[in-house]
Amino acid sequence: MERTLAIIKPDGVARGFIGEIIRRLEKEDLSILAVKMIWMTKEQAKGFYRVHAGKPFYESVTDFMSSGPCVAMVLEGKDAINVYRKLMGATNHKEAAKGTIRHDYATNIEKNVVHGSDSPQSAAFEIAYFFNELEIFKS
Ligand code: TYD
Ligand code: MG
Repeated sequence: MERTLAIIKPDGVARGFIGEIIRRLEKEDLSILAVKMIWMTKEQAKGFYRVHAGKPFYESVTDFMSSGPCVAMVLEGKDAINVYRKLMGATNHKEAAKGTIRHDYATNIEKNVVHGSDSPQSAAFEIAYFFNELEIFKS
Protein backbone atom coordinates (compact mmCIF):
# COMPACT_ATOMS: atom_id res chain seq x y z
CA MET A 1 0.00 0.00 0.00
CA GLU A 2 1.14 3.50 -0.84
CA ARG A 3 -0.03 6.98 0.14
CA THR A 4 -0.27 10.14 -1.94
CA LEU A 5 -1.37 13.73 -1.39
CA ALA A 6 -4.18 14.91 -3.64
CA ILE A 7 -5.46 18.47 -3.92
CA ILE A 8 -8.55 19.80 -5.63
CA LYS A 9 -7.21 23.23 -6.60
CA PRO A 10 -9.09 26.55 -6.22
CA ASP A 11 -10.50 26.34 -9.78
CA GLY A 12 -11.85 22.82 -9.16
CA VAL A 13 -13.51 23.86 -5.90
CA ALA A 14 -14.94 27.11 -7.33
CA ARG A 15 -16.34 25.35 -10.40
CA GLY A 16 -18.07 22.65 -8.35
CA PHE A 17 -15.98 19.58 -9.16
CA ILE A 18 -15.30 18.27 -5.63
CA GLY A 19 -17.93 15.54 -5.88
CA GLU A 20 -16.98 14.47 -9.40
CA ILE A 21 -13.27 14.19 -8.56
CA ILE A 22 -13.91 12.22 -5.37
CA ARG A 23 -16.24 9.89 -7.31
CA ARG A 24 -13.49 9.20 -9.85
CA LEU A 25 -10.82 8.39 -7.28
CA GLU A 26 -13.13 6.17 -5.24
CA LYS A 27 -13.88 4.19 -8.43
CA GLU A 28 -10.11 3.54 -8.76
CA ASP A 29 -9.94 1.91 -5.32
CA LEU A 30 -8.11 4.86 -3.78
CA SER A 31 -9.21 5.19 -0.13
CA ILE A 32 -9.47 8.59 1.49
CA LEU A 33 -7.55 8.50 4.78
CA ALA A 34 -7.90 12.25 5.47
CA VAL A 35 -9.62 15.25 3.93
CA LYS A 36 -9.76 18.95 4.74
CA MET A 37 -10.51 22.25 3.11
CA ILE A 38 -7.71 24.80 3.31
CA TRP A 39 -7.19 28.31 1.94
CA MET A 40 -3.42 28.74 1.75
CA THR A 41 -1.66 32.05 2.22
CA LYS A 42 0.82 33.06 -0.47
CA GLU A 43 3.66 32.01 1.88
CA GLN A 44 2.06 28.60 2.50
CA ALA A 45 1.61 28.09 -1.25
CA LYS A 46 5.27 29.01 -1.82
CA GLY A 47 6.30 26.47 0.81
CA PHE A 48 4.15 23.78 -0.76
CA TYR A 49 5.61 24.38 -4.22
CA ARG A 50 9.16 25.09 -3.04
CA VAL A 51 10.61 22.51 -5.47
CA HIS A 52 9.55 24.95 -8.20
CA ALA A 53 11.14 28.07 -6.62
CA GLY A 54 12.91 30.11 -9.29
CA LYS A 55 10.98 28.64 -12.23
CA PRO A 56 9.14 31.09 -14.51
CA PHE A 57 5.69 29.92 -13.34
CA TYR A 58 6.45 29.94 -9.57
CA GLU A 59 4.98 33.37 -8.74
CA SER A 60 1.89 32.84 -10.83
CA VAL A 61 1.12 29.31 -9.64
CA THR A 62 1.54 30.29 -5.97
CA ASP A 63 -0.79 33.29 -6.51
CA PHE A 64 -3.30 30.89 -8.02
CA MET A 65 -2.97 28.28 -5.26
CA SER A 66 -3.59 30.97 -2.63
CA SER A 67 -6.53 32.53 -4.51
CA GLY A 68 -9.23 30.42 -2.86
CA PRO A 69 -9.92 27.27 -0.88
CA CYS A 70 -8.54 23.87 -1.90
CA VAL A 71 -9.54 20.39 -0.79
CA ALA A 72 -6.50 18.42 0.41
CA MET A 73 -6.71 14.64 0.79
CA VAL A 74 -4.49 11.74 1.78
CA LEU A 75 -5.18 8.80 -0.52
CA GLU A 76 -4.07 5.22 -0.02
CA GLY A 77 -4.03 2.30 -2.40
CA LYS A 78 -1.85 -0.08 -4.36
CA ASP A 79 0.54 2.07 -6.46
CA ALA A 80 -1.52 5.11 -5.33
CA ILE A 81 0.93 7.74 -6.63
CA ASN A 82 0.86 6.46 -10.22
CA VAL A 83 -2.81 5.46 -10.16
CA TYR A 84 -3.82 8.97 -9.09
CA ARG A 85 -1.39 10.69 -11.52
CA LYS A 86 -2.95 8.65 -14.35
CA LEU A 87 -6.40 9.73 -13.23
CA MET A 88 -5.26 13.39 -13.27
CA GLY A 89 -3.62 13.34 -16.71
CA ALA A 90 -0.66 15.37 -17.98
CA THR A 91 0.18 18.76 -16.43
CA ASN A 92 -0.75 20.49 -19.69
CA HIS A 93 -4.41 19.63 -20.32
CA LYS A 94 -3.81 19.77 -24.08
CA GLU A 95 -1.52 16.76 -23.67
CA ALA A 96 -3.74 14.95 -21.15
CA ALA A 97 -5.32 11.68 -22.25
CA LYS A 98 -9.05 11.56 -22.90
CA GLY A 99 -11.09 10.76 -19.81
CA THR A 100 -8.55 12.18 -17.37
CA ILE A 101 -9.56 14.92 -14.93
CA ARG A 102 -7.29 17.51 -16.52
CA HIS A 103 -8.40 16.64 -20.05
CA ASP A 104 -12.03 16.98 -19.03
CA TYR A 105 -11.88 20.06 -16.76
CA ALA A 106 -8.60 22.04 -16.93
CA THR A 107 -8.72 25.43 -18.66
CA ASN A 108 -4.97 26.07 -19.01
CA ILE A 109 -1.62 24.66 -17.87
CA GLU A 110 -1.86 26.53 -14.54
CA LYS A 111 -5.56 26.13 -13.76
CA ASN A 112 -5.44 22.38 -14.06
CA VAL A 113 -7.91 21.45 -11.29
CA VAL A 114 -5.89 18.88 -9.35
CA HIS A 115 -2.53 18.15 -7.75
CA GLY A 116 -0.97 14.78 -7.01
CA SER A 117 2.39 13.86 -5.49
CA ASP A 118 4.95 12.62 -8.02
CA SER A 119 7.13 10.32 -5.86
CA PRO A 120 7.18 8.63 -2.44
CA GLN A 121 9.53 11.42 -1.24
CA SER A 122 7.25 14.23 -2.38
CA ALA A 123 4.21 12.38 -0.99
CA ALA A 124 5.84 12.19 2.46
CA PHE A 125 6.68 15.92 2.40
CA GLU A 126 3.30 17.00 1.01
CA ILE A 127 1.19 14.82 3.36
CA ALA A 128 3.07 16.19 6.37
CA TYR A 129 2.64 19.74 5.01
CA PHE A 130 -1.14 19.53 5.49
CA PHE A 131 -1.87 16.72 7.97
CA ASN A 132 -0.54 15.51 11.28
CA GLU A 133 -0.65 11.83 12.24
CA LEU A 134 -3.79 12.25 14.38
CA GLU A 135 -5.70 13.51 11.35
CA ILE A 136 -4.89 10.51 9.15
CA PHE A 137 -7.24 7.53 9.42
CA LYS A 138 -5.41 4.26 10.03
CA SER A 139 -6.60 1.77 7.44
P1 TYD B 1 4.50 20.35 -12.02
O1 TYD B 1 4.87 19.79 -10.69
O2 TYD B 1 5.52 20.34 -13.09
O3 TYD B 1 3.18 19.61 -12.59
P2 TYD B 1 2.18 18.56 -11.89
O4 TYD B 1 1.12 19.35 -11.19
O5 TYD B 1 1.61 17.78 -13.05
O6 TYD B 1 2.98 17.70 -10.96
O7 TYD B 1 4.01 21.86 -11.83
C1 TYD B 1 3.23 22.25 -10.73
C2 TYD B 1 2.12 23.14 -11.20
O8 TYD B 1 2.66 24.36 -11.71
C3 TYD B 1 1.29 22.57 -12.34
O9 TYD B 1 0.25 21.71 -11.90
C4 TYD B 1 0.75 23.81 -12.99
C5 TYD B 1 1.87 24.82 -12.79
N1 TYD B 1 2.70 24.95 -14.02
C6 TYD B 1 2.54 26.07 -14.82
O10 TYD B 1 1.70 26.95 -14.54
N2 TYD B 1 3.31 26.19 -15.95
C7 TYD B 1 4.23 25.25 -16.30
O11 TYD B 1 4.91 25.39 -17.35
C8 TYD B 1 4.39 24.10 -15.47
C9 TYD B 1 5.40 23.03 -15.82
C10 TYD B 1 3.61 23.99 -14.33
MG1 MG C 1 4.31 18.21 -9.50
